[in-house]
Amino acid sequence: MPPKTATKTKQQPAKAANWGGVEALTAVEVTHSAKVPDEAGTLGVAVFDDMDLPVNIPGAATPAWLRARGFTGKLGETLVLPGDNDSTVVAVGLGERAKLDTARLRRAAGCLARAASREPHIATTLASAAGSGAEFAQAVTEGVLLGSYRFNRHKSGANGSAEAAGGPKLRRFTLVGGPAKGAANGAARGKVLATATALARDLANEPAGTLSPTALANAAVEAGRAAGLQVTVWDEKKVLAERMGALLGVAAGSDEPCRFVRMEYNPTAKSRGTLAMVGKGITFDSGGLSLKTGEGMMTMKSDMSGAAAVLAAMAALPALAPPVRVVGYLCCTENMPSGKATRPGDVLVTRSGKTIEVLNTDAEGRLVLADGLAVAVEEQPDAVVDIATLTGAIITALGKKVAGVMGTSEALIEQARAAGDRVGEPLWPLPIPDEYRSQIDSEVADIKNIGAGPQNGAITGAMVLKEFVGDIPWAHLDIAGTARTESDDSFVSKGCTGWGARLLIDLAVNFRKPARRR
Ligand code: BES
Ligand code: MN
Ligand code: ZN
Repeated sequence: MPPKTATKTKQQPAKAANWGGVEALTAVEVTHSAKVPDEAGTLGVAVFDDMDLPVNIPGAATPAWLRARGFTGKLGETLVLPGDNDSTVVAVGLGERAKLDTARLRRAAGCLARAASREPHIATTLASAAGSGAEFAQAVTEGVLLGSYRFNRHKSGANGSAEAAGGPKLRRFTLVGGPAKGAANGAARGKVLATATALARDLANEPAGTLSPTALANAAVEAGRAAGLQVTVWDEKKVLAERMGALLGVAAGSDEPCRFVRMEYNPTAKSRGTLAMVGKGITFDSGGLSLKTGEGMMTMKSDMSGAAAVLAAMAALPALAPPVRVVGYLCCTENMPSGKATRPGDVLVTRSGKTIEVLNTDAEGRLVLADGLAVAVEEQPDAVVDIATLTGAIITALGKKVAGVMGTSEALIEQARAAGDRVGEPLWPLPIPDEYRSQIDSEVADIKNIGAGPQNGAITGAMVLKEFVGDIPWAHLDIAGTARTESDDSFVSKGCTGWGARLLIDLAVNFRKPARRR
């Protein structure tokens, strides 16, 4: 479909490409060197909690000296000390030697970046201290780059640069030691993954006044086409012609028109199959007529974090060239109250033909995804994954550091969990019991959009989605808890985390067709 895009909306940034954080990371020069470069102002060195120093720390700090200053080598602990000449050394705790894996190494690297945030050139031996594999170089690169990420676009005088706003100054990053080839490959992959996460963070952090559904679709066109993907955008007329009644029902209350985006990556090598990814792209969730409280909507500019993760993952694929065809879909709209808004009790006819009684307009994510999933499965992919800030109930169940996964294919759920473990974005499964299905029976329509009460709210959300995936193996990621953090922590900064971009990339790279179900 040709993109009939961009009815110009108010307040759009002149140049949609400059989201700030991602530019800063893209500009960082990542290199490998056998020895510590003279120009590096800061060297991060690994210290395990046995305090058996792997290399002599420049500046001659001994284990006893470090211990006397309270440094124990536990994971993520940092101590800044003077090095040779004018340089600085940061002792970085790696914790227990036997427990070290890429997830822990990435965290330690994030802490190094925080400790050295004033430094334009960071070098580190962290990766080679962990082992010779490229995965260690990759994890350290991700950690240092993401630990330097800040969202400063709207700080006056910052001009989109973290440095100008008094944030991190990183311009160069050098991995020291280890086999050159592994380090170079790992560093390159690490930079791609960190940049994707930064893009997802930028989009989610961007206020809803500037990141309208149209602006989000434009960002997909820009990032996707720059990466060499095919991107098509359906505007609100096309969405109507395509009978996406649930997406339109959510969009009805907003002055901003909705958008539906399709992004396609085609491998040059022989394909192992097709993976579809669908993202919830609510650019602002006021709740609609079932209006949220003032506090409840404070963070709802980030209700498009699922779509941002899909967009960023898709845009990263060509650089990694996995032998898998991947199609990404973004369901973009606002959820607003107005005289035109969908009312509680209204019935929407979805693209699949199934009807949904909307009893709470704040349960809007499952509505837009119902239509997005329907389009995705019509193309008969080998598997479909959706990612959404879907329910507050998942936060009650799993908190803010683990996301929920539900679905119809154990094999696909397992692949998603393995990907999450590798990238440090853990998933935990919940069931979708048939015994609960009657909770979404409707008096007047095929189903209703809410269940019996708050007890199993995350499952109810998934249960509605399940109605629209047919027999395509499906997994649903509920990231309502993990999409934002209220405090700086290692390689994540307060605000939107970009959670899911790296998981989706890893899932695509390691994708294997799951068995068809039913
Ligand atoms: N976007 C919210 C879910 C959410 C809540 C995300 C908190 C991040 C933080 C979603 O659209 C929503 O409002 N869900 C409702 C569903 C309910 C009305 C059945 C919820 O979880 O309360
Ligand atoms: Mn809502
Ligand atoms: Zn929402």
